Amino acid sequence: MSNVLEVSGLRKEFGGLVAVRDVSFTVGKGEFVGLIGPNGCGKSTTFNCISGLLEKTSGSVEIFGEDASGLRPDQIQNLGMTRTFQHTNLWREMTVIENLLVPPRGQFGSSIRELARSLLLPKNQAEQGRLSRAFEVLDQLEVPHMAHNLTSELSGGQSKLVDIGRSMMGEPRLLLLDEPVAGVAGPLAMKIFNNLRKIVDETGITILIIEHNMDFILRQGVDRIIVMNEGRVLMQGTPDEVRNNRAVIEAYLGAAGESEGEEE
Ligand SMILES: Nc1ncnc2c1ncn2[C@@H]1O[C@H](COP(=O)(O)OP(=O)(O)OP(=O)(O)O)[C@@H](O)[C@H]1O
Ligand SMILES: [Mg+2]
Repeated sequence: MSNVLEVSGLRKEFGGLVAVRDVSFTVGKGEFVGLIGPNGCGKSTTFNCISGLLEKTSGSVEIFGEDASGLRPDQIQNLGMTRTFQHTNLWREMTVIENLLVPPRGQFGSSIRELARSLLLPKNQAEQGRLSRAFEVLDQLEVPHMAHNLTSELSGGQSKLVDIGRSMMGEPRLLLLDEPVAGVAGPLAMKIFNNLRKIVDETGITILIIEHNMDFILRQGVDRIIVMNEGRVLMQGTPDEVRNNRAVIEAYLGAAGESEGEEE
């Protein structure tokens, strides 16, 4: 299996704080991999360094065999990798389908006014293709009925789905999802994971997904789980191997104890 992502000795400091100390892992083509770990252990920062949003302090990141160091987020996206953010940021005044047609905030070159104007232009072939793709994505996520709903009227879980859909628009070969089901009710969260599993199996896309709830992700059919703790990879393995790993259990129990102690 060829690797689509190789992170090696990644380190990120914010002033005196070392958010990511030493992180190395690989993700193979067509894998569905979970990235878990206690609050503040450096998961999102790892994503931010991979996706070019933050400059890493040291280490290397290769995406599809290419050195991603120094590349801007849009250049990394052009390699075929897209990510979502922990906090969903949809265009609330637009419908679901319009949100899919517009690139996410911070990832388009023009101002919002130019963008809105371009949406109003008569459809050319490229725009027609994008519209077909948007409906295809809604079909894949099994929510075609939501196309013309205003996003401001969606539940938190439905908004997360639209966000995932938006990240799939450019047909990425590697998708990084930062807690796509946080705050989503159990049944919908499971449906989202089932859909992602199906999309991985049917399209050969690779997905790396951050999830904070360990009990939940252990039951969601991911191929492999990478466990982080305090800026490092604590272990990686199948859900069964993670479930039975003493160090993982202790890291989670330790983190729970710390957060209780923090409330002074
Ligand atoms: N831009 C930043 N500036 C300064 N410190 C930061 C910044 N981003 C993250 N941190 C700090 O780095 C550490 C790791 O944060 P990060 O968001 O990567 O953790 P996480 O594992 O994603 O946590 P969570 O499960 O809460 O989302 C934390 O101590 C956080 O406060
Ligand atoms: Mg995070």
